[in-house]
Amino acid sequence: MSIQRKRVSPVKIVLSESQMPRQWYNLAADFRTPLLPPLGPDGKPVTPEMMSAIFPMNLIEQEMTSDRWVDIPDEILQILYRWRPSPLHRALALEELLDTPARIYYKNESVSPAGSHKLNTAIAQAYYNKIAGTKNITTETGAGQWGSALSYACTAMGLTCKVYMVKVSFEQKPFRKMLMQTWGGTCIASPSNLTNAGRAVLEKDPNCPGSLAIAISEAVEEAVADKTGKTKYALGSVLNHVMLHQTIIGQETKKQLELAGEKQADVVIACAGGGSNLAGLTFPFCKDKIEGDNIEIIAVEPESCPTLTRGPFAYDIGDMSGMTPLLPMYTLGHEFIPDPIHAGGLRYHGMAPLVSKAVADKLIEPRSIGQEECFDAAIKFARSEGIVPAPESSHALAMAMREAVKAKEEGKEKVIVFGLSGHGLLDLVGYDKYLSGNIKDHEPSPEQLARSLDCIKNFPKP
Ligand SMILES: Cc1ncc(COP(=O)(O)O)c(C=O)c1O
Repeated sequence: MSIQRKRVSPVKIVLSESQMPRQWYNLAADFRTPLLPPLGPDGKPVTPEMMSAIFPMNLIEQEMTSDRWVDIPDEILQILYRWRPSPLHRALALEELLDTPARIYYKNESVSPAGSHKLNTAIAQAYYNKIAGTKNITTETGAGQWGSALSYACTAMGLTCKVYMVKVSFEQKPFRKMLMQTWGGTCIASPSNLTNAGRAVLEKDPNCPGSLAIAISEAVEEAVADKTGKTKYALGSVLNHVMLHQTIIGQETKKQLELAGEKQADVVIACAGGGSNLAGLTFPFCKDKIEGDNIEIIAVEPESCPTLTRGPFAYDIGDMSGMTPLLPMYTLGHEFIPDPIHAGGLRYHGMAPLVSKAVADKLIEPRSIGQEECFDAAIKFARSEGIVPAPESSHALAMAMREAVKAKEEGKEKVIVFGLSGHGLLDLVGYDKYLSGNIKDHEPSPEQLARSLDCIKNFPKP
């Protein structure tokens, strides 16, 4: 007999602009032990001056702050209002399909102009760069979500934007490049011939599919090369200030759950590439967990890039050629090149230090999942709820579906919340491949993982 589902109204919970959070939340203020510092090549903690070659000082201050709450400037709020607050949906059709007693909610970040959560920090970073006098921003992008978000944000703030896009995604997702160009950005396939870092990789392997680490090296190199200081680099994930800017997501979600009459969430799930979407949705819930709430918080990564589930917690660089500081994080080694899966935004060797610490401190539990299960879940979601999820988001969705099935087996009415970090309308080539039976799972062998960690063996240990 199928479960009797009470009609709920409204099915999507929307907040007014006046209910939008006015501050970002900094989890670093609530850890029981301090976050380890990033280190320079000499093994000593990096100073703000060392970071100023690539970032403006106002963002460096945010990177290093231990304040629990940081005010959101009004100019940023005014732009966020164009699509925020984003809706929280009750996934009734999916619940019916799974015949689960769980109540499933998803926070829909796909409603932003660029189609994902990435715009939350893109707008903030472009704003702080503008007021610091920056004229040009360089960056990397995996699947193209970040590059397109930053292209729009730079246009909104009157800056130019140049994006190094991981070659495999550049070829799989041509529409992302067109979107960047539409918003006035320039998009280059990485590795490219434009930088020393790109040329060095191409010399070794002319067919290299690229990786986020290589693309970061290229973008940082270009920013550093401009001695006028007018070109800076922006990172779409990993760093503390990026995590901070995304916490608006979880804060809104908590208010929306309250409006839906839910006392608390039992399970909160987000996918993790560099960690920003996960941080955004889950850090406000981590605060509650630190204060005693019983919440299961799950980070989902691809089996083909198992940073949190199979990598060690170690110091490693964030790029391929050592232009970034050493960061304390879970890592597969900066030379790890993941299989060219369709969730391009999850192909990163490292993980944000804040997320890594939350995992090490057991606030967040990491799990991995194969891309076949993710595409299967995405198709079920598209055919029930109607939205076509980004391949990255489908990792969170697939885990939410596993949890909903588990709730049914246990006969429990759990409240499950997952992050729909983006839509997949520009990822249909991946869907086409899946539907024609051409998507395969891939897991790196223990030998491959051991080999790729060789490059960090001489780095300081945390
Ligand atoms: C839709 C979407 N979700 C998630 C991610 C993962 O990135 P992060 O872990 O920084 O949120 C990406 C990255 O490009 C993305 O495009």
